[in-house]
Amino acid sequence: MVEVENLNKIYTVGSKQEKVLDGITFHIQKGELVLLRGVSGSGKTTLLSILAGMEKPSSGKVLIDSEPISKLPDIHLSHFRAKKIGMVFQHFNLIENLTLLDNVLVPLVANRVGLKEAKEMALAALKNARIEHKKDAYPNRLSGGEKQRGAIARAIVAKPSLLLCDEPTANLDSKNSQSFIEQLMQMHKEGQTIVVATHDPIFETLECEHRIIDIKNGKIV
Ligand SMILES: Nc1ncnc2c1ncn2[C@@H]1O[C@H](COP(=O)(O)OP(=O)(O)O)[C@@H](O)[C@H]1O
Ligand SMILES: [Mg+2]
Repeated sequence: MVEVENLNKIYTVGSKQEKVLDGITFHIQKGELVLLRGVSGSGKTTLLSILAGMEKPSSGKVLIDSEPISKLPDIHLSHFRAKKIGMVFQHFNLIENLTLLDNVLVPLVANRVGLKEAKEMALAALKNARIEHKKDAYPNRLSGGEKQRGAIARAIVAKPSLLLCDEPTANLDSKNSQSFIEQLMQMHKEGQTIVVATHDPIFETLECEHRIIDIKNGKIV
């Protein structure tokens, strides 16, 4: 599902070059649940952004579902992303002037699903994330846990091949974090391929099969 070979990312800030990802290589099989662990600044978000096709690597190979995403031209990339990738961001990134239902419809519009079918799919995703009852609410009327569930619904609505979660519990209290973990286990059970970047100790007690990739200073350790 995911093949990363000798991936490097260098940021140039002023005259200084910083190697943020340094020779990263790993593979992820379909249906795997992978925890990408590392302290703040270790390169987790950069790596997820490259897997999502939102950032280009400086060098190296990234295949998602056998597609070399780092080589796709932008016009194909956005389509590929809409079809294949679901992302849950640390700060949820819901669109404030859209209701939750409309937020969840966005990826389907990008996938050119007809409106009637799109609405059914969006409602099903909201139900699955146990937030259907807030479908008409705007994000600023939702609690952190509710926003998180809305963000999950949006990430999975188009049935992505790969679900990426960036510090998904960083802004949640322990009850909502636990509820996120239960949803994660449910999605894993349903066969979803998932990568979660986190340094939250709550994942240490994860009660389902998973693999840990530790990252430190841009290198896998
Ligand atoms: N756009 C950018 N320009 C320059 N440096 C960046 C940029 N994005 C991230 N970095 C740097 O890359 C390193 C890794 O950041 P990041 O991937 O966000 O780590 P993490 O998500 O593990 O906290 C940090 O030192 C950060 O300052
Ligand atoms: Mg980060």
